[in-house]
Amino acid sequence: MRIHLLGFMGAGKSSLGPFLAKAAELVFLDLDTEIENREGLRIPELFAEGGEERFRRAEHAALAALSQRNDLVLATGGGVVESPGNHELLAAGFVVYLNWPWPLLRDRLLFAEGGDRPLIEEGGDVLKERWLRRDPIYRELADLICDLDLKELRTPRRLQFPRLAERILSAAGREGQ
Ligand code: S3P
Repeated sequence: MRIHLLGFMGAGKSSLGPFLAKAAELVFLDLDTEIENREGLRIPELFAEGGEERFRRAEHAALAALSQRNDLVLATGGGVVESPGNHELLAAGFVVYLNWPWPLLRDRLLFAEGGDRPLIEEGGDVLKERWLRRDPIYRELADLICDLDLKELRTPRRLQFPRLAERILSAAGREGQ
């Protein structure tokens, strides 16, 4: 089985991923970490070195390098769908889209989180354009769309994650992934 978690920055791919992997006895990998390990640079350093283009090249190379591996849950970066060359690689797994309404994502990104995400500096309007551009691609690639909203935000992860994991694993199992 190979599960690919898709969704915008802040969707929770990297926090749900390890839980899901443990529940399914799969290995968890985070594409951003794989990129950093391969390149020997942190993500902000890649952006500083050659802008988004440099980062996207490294992202594609890291995803392609993982394409032979099986039995894993892969948390992807929110922009992985921006490179058309990644679509086929993503579709080779069971693709789950963690879909939040834009206003919740925006608040989470602009007011709560920060960290190592250079694109956050673009600000709300540009980020929204990215979200509008990516959302239809996430949907098109998805085998399963998990619609998440305030209810999930208010539910502790220890209750929310088992339910989500069960839903994802039974859907993936049905598709024989
Ligand atoms: C990006 C998302 C980030 C990371 C990079 C670019 C994007 O990953 O890959 O900063 O273009 O949306 P997360 O979605 O895990 O934050």
